[in-house]
Amino acid sequence: MKSPVLLNPGPVNVTPRVRDALLRGDLCHREVEFSDLMENIRQKLLKAFDIEDEYTSVLISGSGTAALEMGVSSCLSLGKSILIIKNGVYGERIEKIADIYKFPKHVLNYDWGQPPSMKDVENALKQHPDIEVVALVHHETTTGLLNPLFAVGDLARKYEKKFFVDCISSLAGDEVDFKACSIDFAIGTANKCIQGLPGVAFVFFRKKDLCRLNYIPDRSLYFNLLKYHGAQEAGDTLFTPAIQIHYALDEALDELLEETVQGRIRRYKEAADLFRKGFSEMGLEFLIPEGHRSNCLTALRLPESIDYTDLHARLKSQGFVIYAGQGNLQNKIFRIANMGDLKKQDIETCLQALNATCSQKTQ
Ligand SMILES: Cc1ncc(COP(=O)(O)O)c(C=O)c1O
Repeated sequence: MKSPVLLNPGPVNVTPRVRDALLRGDLCHREVEFSDLMENIRQKLLKAFDIEDEYTSVLISGSGTAALEMGVSSCLSLGKSILIIKNGVYGERIEKIADIYKFPKHVLNYDWGQPPSMKDVENALKQHPDIEVVALVHHETTTGLLNPLFAVGDLARKYEKKFFVDCISSLAGDEVDFKACSIDFAIGTANKCIQGLPGVAFVFFRKKDLCRLNYIPDRSLYFNLLKYHGAQEAGDTLFTPAIQIHYALDEALDELLEETVQGRIRRYKEAADLFRKGFSEMGLEFLIPEGHRSNCLTALRLPESIDYTDLHARLKSQGFVIYAGQGNLQNKIFRIANMGDLKKQDIETCLQALNATCSQKTQ
C-alpha cells in the first residue's frame, strides 16, 4: 500500500533507505555494537551542524518533548531563574516544564504568531539579574513563525546568559547557526527535518558548560542530562533505548551528510516557495507575513465556506495528510508542512487537490 504524503510537521515521510534500516537486526544495547552505533550517531549529529569542536550531543529515546524536558530540567543552576519567550504552544510547553520543576521564571507573553520585541527581552534581562537561561522556540510550529534566533542570542551573549533553543521543528530545515547565535542548549528530534523516524530525540550543549552543570542537583531520574551524557561518553546507556529507531536515525544522518544541511535547507525553501506560490494563486490568506515564515510549514486562514474536518477528509482521500490549527486557532487555520522526503510532483498534485476543493466550496 502506498503511504500517504505527510504534510503534518512530523513524523515525516522517510526514504526507503531509512525505512529499511529498521531491519538491520536484533541487538542488545549493552553490546559494543550498540555503543558504536550510539557514538556514530552522536558524532554525525555534531558533524552535520559543524559543531564538533565546542558542543556535545546526548540522545534520549522518546519524542521531542523527552529531550525538551531533559534539557529544561537540567539547564538551570540552583537559585537562578529562566526567562521564557512565549508565542505559541511550544513556548507554553517550556513554561509547563519549568513549572513542574518549580523553577523561578520570568515570562514574555505574546499573541500566537507575534514575534517578540527585543526591547522587552533586553528590559527583562536588565531588570532581573537572577535570570540565568533565556529560552526560545526557534520555529513555533503552532503558526509557522520563525522567531529571531540571532537577535535573542545576541542579547543573551551581551548579558552573559545561557541561550536555550527548542529547534525541534527547524533543525536542518531552517538556518540554525549555533555559534553566531550564541546557542548554549539546542533540542532536536529524529522525525522532522532530520528525516528519521519517531522515538529518538537529542540535546546539544557546550562542552565547557559541563563543570557548571555538574553542580546542579539531580531533579529527575529519567530526564537527567548529565547522567545520560556520562553514560553515553562511556559507551553505555542508562535505560533500554529504541534500538531500531537508532538504526533509522543513523541512516537518516548519512543522508543528511550527503545532502548537507545547507542543501536540505535549500530544498525545503524551494518546496515552501512552490506551495506558497500555489496558495497565493488560490487567494488563500497567510497567517504569518512574508519574511517571518519558516521554510518548513505554512499556516493558512481557513476560508469561511470551508470546514476543516471536511477539507482534511477530502485531501486525505486523495493521499495527502494536512494538519489542523491548535488551541484558539482550531477551525480558524490549517497547516501544511513541507518536511521530509517530499517530491515536487506531490506538491503540485496536492495544490491541484486543494484548489479543486476550495473552488468547489466557494462557488
Ligand atoms: C517546536 C516543537 N517543540 C516541541 C515539539 C514536541 O515534539 P514531540 O511531539 O515529538 O514530543 C514539537 C512537535 O511538533 C515542536 O514542533
